Amino acid sequence: MLNTIIVLALIVNLAALIIFWRKDQNNVYAVFIITIVFLFGATVYKDSEPEWKKYQREYKKLLIEKTKDPKKKKSIEAAPIEVKQLWNQGLDVADRCITCHLGYDTPEFADAPLPYKYHAKAREHDFNKVGCTICHEGQGRATEKVDAHARGIPHWDNPLLPVNMVQSTCGKCHSEIHEEGKELKGADMLNLAKKLSVTNKLEVPCITCHAIKGVGEILAPDLSEFGSRTEHEFELSHDLTHIEGEKNMYNWTYQHFLDPQKVTPGSPATATTPASEPTIMPNFDFTPDEANALTVFVMGLKEDKIPGKYKYKPRAEPKPKAISRFQEAISHEEFEKLPFGEQIFIHYNCWYCHTLKGRGGKIAPDLTHVGGRRDRDWLIKHFKDPGSVSPHTFMPTFRLTDEQIDALTDFLASLK
Ligand code: HEC
Ligand code: HEC
Ligand code: HEC
Ligand code: HEC
Ligand code: HEC
Repeated sequence: MLNTIIVLALIVNLAALIIFWRKDQNNVYAVFIITIVFLFGATVYKDSEPEWKKYQREYKKLLIEKTKDPKKKKSIEAAPIEVKQLWNQGLDVADRCITCHLGYDTPEFADAPLPYKYHAKAREHDFNKVGCTICHEGQGRATEKVDAHARGIPHWDNPLLPVNMVQSTCGKCHSEIHEEGKELKGADMLNLAKKLSVTNKLEVPCITCHAIKGVGEILAPDLSEFGSRTEHEFELSHDLTHIEGEKNMYNWTYQHFLDPQKVTPGSPATATTPASEPTIMPNFDFTPDEANALTVFVMGLKEDKIPGKYKYKPRAEPKPKAISRFQEAISHEEFEKLPFGEQIFIHYNCWYCHTLKGRGGKIAPDLTHVGGRRDRDWLIKHFKDPGSVSPHTFMPTFRLTDEQIDALTDFLASLK
């Protein structure tokens, strides 16, 4: 916009020069001065009117439209137009993306256009804590779209990922994706790639030749940090001559999965490089979707930089309560159905010492038919104080309530 104005101003000035030079030079100077004042004004205006202010005004308007409460409307109206930032020192994140992506946390904006749209995906994460670039890359501190998205900006190594490649960053914190048999919800490409890396049409796992995160062979390059290289480093170490379309890391990797021999056909010796053999990586006959998923997967293999505190820690499997072997042998539902007295017998681990119905310890009498030997009175006295009826016994006195003793006695008395 400013550039167009400058060009127009120049044309006007040139025209003034041609028309008035011979007639009245004062007119020429007048036009010059007006232009200078005008251009000065335009620059000041441009600086006071950065791109993001437009988005904030529009967002405000949309938000007011969606709000019914007049009081709330007023407070939205009064809210300042300002640069907004998500900051996390531990993660080294200072992301100003939300200066424009304003509705990321407002569910009413689910259908709003970008950049106001609500962030419906990946809600397991607290964006206000982790920011945006941790998953999307891009230049967090910038407030102009071109700089923030940083696509094609020289000297910025991590441009905003295309939306369909965001999954390549999940592995930064979800190292469990490298564990056998684990899947990550919301990361269907990674899950597919992981599956293909083990079971594919050739039945040849990638780790037959490559090492990935410490597992596998070293016949071929270690892939553990494949995605750590910058675009520039990648181009220096790879032959991009056989790539169709834009010659970049993504296309090399994607096309290499579709046809390794085409991308790495080997080359004759030159004055500066020795000859290289064609690759031994087999053609797995991957579909485009599979090749894309594998590309996202390997480009996400990076060196580990995230502090442990922010990584995903799988919730500990609920620890099995110290249940007895009796309890193990029966399901919870079955246990619930047992008579209360029998539940107490199992719960208090009486079976450590006693056998019942063929199971349990042998250091105390078998209780399978105890109801035939002992009556209720004896049993109750024995529970309250074993020594009172069996001197020298080592059976402990259990702190049972009267109700529990009653139930236990009923149960044992019934065993005849
Ligand atoms: C100056 C405003 C502005 C800033 C700052 C900004 N964006 Fe955007 N973003 C937009 C707009 C507008 C769109 C809509 C599509 C377009 O115009 O490119 C968009 C689109 C996107 C998209 C989806 C489309 C695509 O191109 O892939 C993503 C993802 C995105 N932005 C992420 C980010 C992240 C992450 C940051 C911070 C590093 C950021 N944006 C900073 C304005 C901004
Ligand atoms: C935990 C990872 C994660 C974080 C953090 C994150 N995003 Fe996303 N984002 C995603 C995923 C996953 C998608 C969906 C990609 C897809 O559709 O395949 C997405 C999609 C988007 C889109 C495209 C939405 C569309 O409908 O086209 C935008 C824009 C975006 N995110 C912006 C942001 C902004 C701004 C932040 C910071 C407030 C942010 N994201 C934080 C993972 C994340
Ligand atoms: C900054 C590190 C980080 C990144 C990057 C990240 N996650 Fe997470 N993720 C976490 C943490 C931490 C949790 C646990 C959140 C909690 O329970 O409070 C989590 C939880 C989840 C959960 C819920 C799992 C459960 O057991 O409840 C899913 C699903 C998930 N993440 C998917 C993704 C996907 C998909 C991506 C990539 C688009 C991603 N995450 C990127 C850190 C991360
Ligand atoms: C028979 C051995 C072999 C198998 C199996 C194999 N590769 Fe390769 N791969 C290679 C060799 C050799 C290279 C290096 C030459 C080249 O560019 O192809 C390579 C290169 C690569 C590269 C580029 C590495 C770099 O740093 O330039 C990637 C990525 C890759 N393989 C991924 C995979 C994946 C994923 C699988 C499993 C689906 C796989 N490979 C299976 C032998 C193998
Ligand atoms: C540390 C081992 C030990 C534990 C645990 C134990 N007992 Fe005993 N129990 C004994 C011994 C020894 C005897 C035999 C001497 C006696 O009569 O006290 C005995 C005797 C008995 C008798 C009488 C058996 C008979 O034939 O005379 C009953 C009934 C009994 N225990 C029930 C229980 C119940 C119910 C529990 C759990 C609440 C339990 N015991 C826990 C050691 C134990």
